[in-house]
Amino acid sequence: MAEAVLSAHGLCKSFGAVQATHDVSIDVRPGEIHAVIGPNGAGKSTLIAQLCGSMASDAGRVELLGRDVTHDTVRRRAQAGLARTFQISALAMEDTVLQNAMLGALGAAGRPWRFLRPALGDQDLRDRAEAALERVGLQDVRAARVAALSHGQRRQLEVALALTLSPKAFIMDEPMAGLGGEGSKLLTDLLSALRADAPILLVEHDMDAVFTLADRISVLVYGQIIETGTVDQIRRSPAVRDAYLGEGA
Ligand SMILES: Nc1ncnc2c1ncn2[C@@H]1O[C@H](COP(=O)(O)OP(=O)(O)OP(=O)(O)O)[C@@H](O)[C@H]1O
Ligand SMILES: [Mg+2]
Repeated sequence: MAEAVLSAHGLCKSFGAVQATHDVSIDVRPGEIHAVIGPNGAGKSTLIAQLCGSMASDAGRVELLGRDVTHDTVRRRAQAGLARTFQISALAMEDTVLQNAMLGALGAAGRPWRFLRPALGDQDLRDRAEAALERVGLQDVRAARVAALSHGQRRQLEVALALTLSPKAFIMDEPMAGLGGEGSKLLTDLLSALRADAPILLVEHDMDAVFTLADRISVLVYGQIIETGTVDQIRRSPAVRDAYLGEGA
């Protein structure tokens, strides 16, 4: 078994009497998309926050490439290669696609472009930004303002921003949210290819996308993982049917 790129062991987080996550262990291995599904309030966002470092855990450990990052800040985990997308859009709407990608490559996404204008002339930065745009299929619109992009293209751009930093693992929170059929299809294809660049931990409510993309699925219910397995194993799991997928599954 390949060594995990990202792993968590025994993560716990309580809010008063609510155990949002309870003894959660999960890992993401090279080349895979590992999806986390579960009903509303199951603890998915809490788990993501614990993995990324935006929320301190009550107990447990997080490792990135075998290194303990449990007490590292969000920024340090990001510098170590953990790329989180789709939570808060860091895109600058009035700037061009290429400018946004260059900000990403600078590690400065979300900061106003005008403060970084001198970086425009940096060829290495521009090359990295162009390569990332090409990877996600946005090279033809690189001169367009982000405000003029479709919702789906903005998601593609967010992936490009993450890619400029050569991440070791992606964490994605509901990338399909708000996308129409066409946009979902494009993003599904992109994520499918992206797992070869870096494995993806994917939290997603769109079950079509999950069942299409996931190499493994973990099912989180009331803060605990009740099952981890392949798509087929999860579809057939009585525990998952009872707890989550329900009669309609
Ligand atoms: N900051 C907070 N303060 C208090 N309770 C919280 C906080 N964040 C989450 N919770 C509670 O923890 C539990 C898990 O919430 P979480 O947001 O992690 O679930 P989720 O699986 O992401 O749900 P959804 O599918 O609706 O996004 C819920 O009962 C929620 O009300
Ligand atoms: Mg959530």
